[in-house]
Amino acid sequence: MKTVETDRIVIVGAGLGGLYAALALAPHPVVIVSPETLGEGSSSAWAQGGVAAAMAEADSPEAHAADTIRVGAGIVDAAVAKFVTEDARAHILGLTDLGTPFDRTSDGGYVLSREAAHGFARVVRVKGDQAGAAIIKSLIQKVRDCDTIQVLEGTMALALDVTEGALTGIHVQNSGPDRSAPVRLRGAAYLIAGGGSGGLFALTTNPQRIQGQVIGMAARAGAIIADAEFVQFHPTAIDVGKDPAPLATEALRGEGATLINADGDRFMLGIHPDAELAPRDIVAREVFNQTQAGKRPMLDTRAALGPRIKDLYPAVTEACLQNGIDPATDPIPVAAAAHYHMGGIATNAAGQSSLGNLWVCGEASATGLHGANRLASNGLLEALVYARICAEGIMKVHPVKQAPPVAIAFEAGGKVPDAAVVTALRRTMTDNVGVVRTQSGLLRALRDIAALEAAQSDVPDVMNMCATATLIAAGALTREESRGAHERADFPDRHAGVGHRSMTTLAKALALRSQACKET
Ligand code: SIN
Repeated sequence: MKTVETDRIVIVGAGLGGLYAALALAPHPVVIVSPETLGEGSSSAWAQGGVAAAMAEADSPEAHAADTIRVGAGIVDAAVAKFVTEDARAHILGLTDLGTPFDRTSDGGYVLSREAAHGFARVVRVKGDQAGAAIIKSLIQKVRDCDTIQVLEGTMALALDVTEGALTGIHVQNSGPDRSAPVRLRGAAYLIAGGGSGGLFALTTNPQRIQGQVIGMAARAGAIIADAEFVQFHPTAIDVGKDPAPLATEALRGEGATLINADGDRFMLGIHPDAELAPRDIVAREVFNQTQAGKRPMLDTRAALGPRIKDLYPAVTEACLQNGIDPATDPIPVAAAAHYHMGGIATNAAGQSSLGNLWVCGEASATGLHGANRLASNGLLEALVYARICAEGIMKVHPVKQAPPVAIAFEAGGKVPDAAVVTALRRTMTDNVGVVRTQSGLLRALRDIAALEAAQSDVPDVMNMCATATLIAAGALTREESRGAHERADFPDRHAGVGHRSMTTLAKALALRSQACKET
C-alpha cells in the first residue's frame, strides 16, 4: 500500500466535532478527511433542535446536569455531566462569535426551545429547526478562511494501523462511487470525529452514509467500545417511506404539539405524567407500539402552531410539503427511527481512546455523558466540549510544526459495498435490534450479520459496518435488563442497584457471535 507522511494532525470527519476541533487546533496544521464536500452528509448539519445550555437566568448547569443524569437511566458519569454542562455557556458564546446566527430576544438574550425531559427551556436554536445547518455553515466559513486547515473532500477512512498499542496510520480512499485503492496516511496525531450508527438501521433520521463505519474501524483496530447496545430512537421521524426519514423536531412538542393516533387518542397521556415531553425512550417506545398495533401515530401541530409552523419550523414544513402533508391542516404521520448512538469508542475525560495517539469526539465517542438515553440536544453540546478538550490534549503532546499540504494521488482498485448486503444488514438491525429486543431476535441478528460479513469480507467498509452491528447486537444480548433506550421484552425490568456501563472489545463480541452461530 502506498504511504503518505505528514506532520499534520489527521482528523477523520467533518461534522461539528471535526470542524470545531480543527479551528481550536489552529495554527497547528490539520488535514481533515471528509467523505463529502463540506456541509453535505454530516449528521450535525441535520440537527434541528440545537445546543442544550443553561442560558436562562433561572436555569443552571447543575439543573442541566441533573436532567442529563436522570434521563440517562442510572449510568451517566456524573463528573462528565458536571463539566460538560458547566462548559456549555462558553461554547454558545464562542459559536456566536464565530458567526452562528442564534435566535435572539429583543433584549439580546437567546431564544430557548423546550425539549423533552428538560426541566427548563434551554435549547439554543436558529430559526426554529435550523441550528445544525447554521452552526456548520458558520464553521465551514471559518475553516475555509484558515490557511492551516486542509480538507480532503471526497475521502474516507477505512482502517487504522496500530503499533504497540498506539495509532500509527489511517488507511484512506476516495469515497466516490468508483472507490480508489487505499492509501496509508501517517500523521502527527489522530482525532476521530465521525458520525454514529443510525444508518445501520433501515429506518433512520441520519444521513444514510453514517453506518457505524468509524466505530467499527476503531473496534477492528482493538479500541475499547463502550455502551454499544444503547441506540436512541427518535419518536417523531416523519413516516412517509423516505430513506432517511425526515425529522420533526422535538421542539414542536415543546411548543405544545401532541401525539395522536388514527382513532384521535392522545395516547401519551396514559403513559407518562409528562405525556409528549416524557423522556425520549418512553415516547419512542409508545410510538413504536402504536405503529405495531396498526394505530398510525401522528404528530399534531395544528392547535399549537397552526399556519405559524411555516415560518417557525421551515425544515419540518418543507419535508411535510414535499410529501403532500400540510402541517398547518394535517397531522404528520410519525415513526420511531434510529437517531443517535449513545455508545461508541470509549474515551476518558481528556477525550483519549484506549489506543495511544487517538482522540475521539462527537457521536462516535462514548464519554459517559449520555448513559442509556441521551437528553435532547446534548449531542451537539458534547461534540463542542470534547472537540475543544481533544484539541487542547493534542496540542499539549504535539507542538506546532509547519507542514505542507498533503498530496495523495489515488489510484483505481478499491472495493465497493454490495447494496444488497447493506440493505439486508439494515433490515436485520431494524427488525431484530430495534426499539424492542428479545434474545431470539438478537441471536438471529448476530447470525445474519455473520453471514453478510462473510459475503463481503474483502470490503473494509462492510467489515466496519458489520463490526459495529455485531457490537450493538452482542451488547444488547448481554444486557439482560431494560434500561433507557435498551428495551428487552424478555427482561422488562431494570436491574436493581447501581447500573453499569458496558466496556467491551470486538474480539469479545465476535466470540459471542460465533457462539450464536453454533447454536443454530
Ligand atoms: C430534535 O430536534 O428533536 C433532535 C434533537 C436531538 O436529537 O438532540
